[in-house]
Amino acid sequence: MTVEKELKRIAKLDRYVRPEKITGAIKLDSNENFALDGEFVLQVVTEAAKRVDLREYPIDELDGLYEQLARYTGINEKYIGAGSGSDQIIELLLTTLVAGNKKKNKGSRSRATVFVPTFSYFVNRCELHGMRVDRVPLDKNFELDIDRFARSARRSDLVYLCSPNNPTGGQVPRKDAVELLDRLDDSSLVLVDEAYADFSSYSLAREATRRDNVIVLRTLSKAFGLAGARVGYMIAGEKTAGVFRSTIQSPYPVSTLSLTIATGVLERADFVKKTIEGVKGERKRVFERLAEIKGIRVFRSDANFLFVETGKSYSAIARALEKEGIVVKLLGNVSGHAGCMRVTIGTQEMNDRFLKCVEEGATS
Ligand SMILES: Cc1ncc(COP(=O)(O)O)c(C=O)c1O
Repeated sequence: MTVEKELKRIAKLDRYVRPEKITGAIKLDSNENFALDGEFVLQVVTEAAKRVDLREYPIDELDGLYEQLARYTGINEKYIGAGSGSDQIIELLLTTLVAGNKKKNKGSRSRATVFVPTFSYFVNRCELHGMRVDRVPLDKNFELDIDRFARSARRSDLVYLCSPNNPTGGQVPRKDAVELLDRLDDSSLVLVDEAYADFSSYSLAREATRRDNVIVLRTLSKAFGLAGARVGYMIAGEKTAGVFRSTIQSPYPVSTLSLTIATGVLERADFVKKTIEGVKGERKRVFERLAEIKGIRVFRSDANFLFVETGKSYSAIARALEKEGIVVKLLGNVSGHAGCMRVTIGTQEMNDRFLKCVEEGATS
């Protein structure tokens, strides 16, 4: 293919568009963690800034991060690999282990199975790399039909399981997820995206350490409040994690400053865990309040956000939010559900202001 033709193909693809920055707005659109005290993060950043010498390449800071990740997850560091956000890890895994690898479907494009709706960035990246993406719809309650998914997954080179799922919030029940892993042989690479697992009730991390074809993706962007530092990690079998660390990952994927900050926050994981519990409490409270509002449907969530179907009140609620200076992810119609929005759980005050707008919009 000529460069011109390839550029034309790429230019037509869906892509992730960064949200607009609205100064002074309450940001409930990107599932960051504003419930984590900004002063706490600033203190860790200030300490890190005093310790690092940015004239040097990061040599052993990555080891410090691995040590703290092992402590937090309870998984030995030989199963862990880190990167510049889980986005970068996804990209590396796609380009090295999947795209162009035609093992299952000789002569055709490599194939991925995802359920939909899901994290659109992932689907965009598969398509960028010329992969065919098979989409299995979730049911009307956004639950996964494991049989249907497994049938498609078995024909695929890559299987993506976003759990808890973005944007719908639910985690695939543990029993179903493990059954799915058992039903797939090691010719399919399974990526379990657990960006929100810190807010949920279980993780498949330990399952991944026992299998060479399963990789769990985690991040410090959400629960740990470090979206701007760009630190993600993966947990996989020893062989997979080893090759990732030695050869797939570039030598210096994360800056010394980000590594030192990430290590500092993980050292204080107990503090972060308290805010996670607070977010979970607020998630329950906001869920219950929304469920009481006529015409509003809210879906069970195991993450730090809620998926809300607002139907006919969509425009009125969106207007009320704009007036109040609150930004949420406006999704419109999603899989037959009308007027959907995804809202991050913030501080109690932010959440109350959000609820007030929904109540106002739904009754206008
Ligand atoms: C499901 C999911 N995976 C991965 C990411 C990206 O995380 P990171 O900031 O580590 O690149 C996000 C961010 O929104 C996400 O929702």
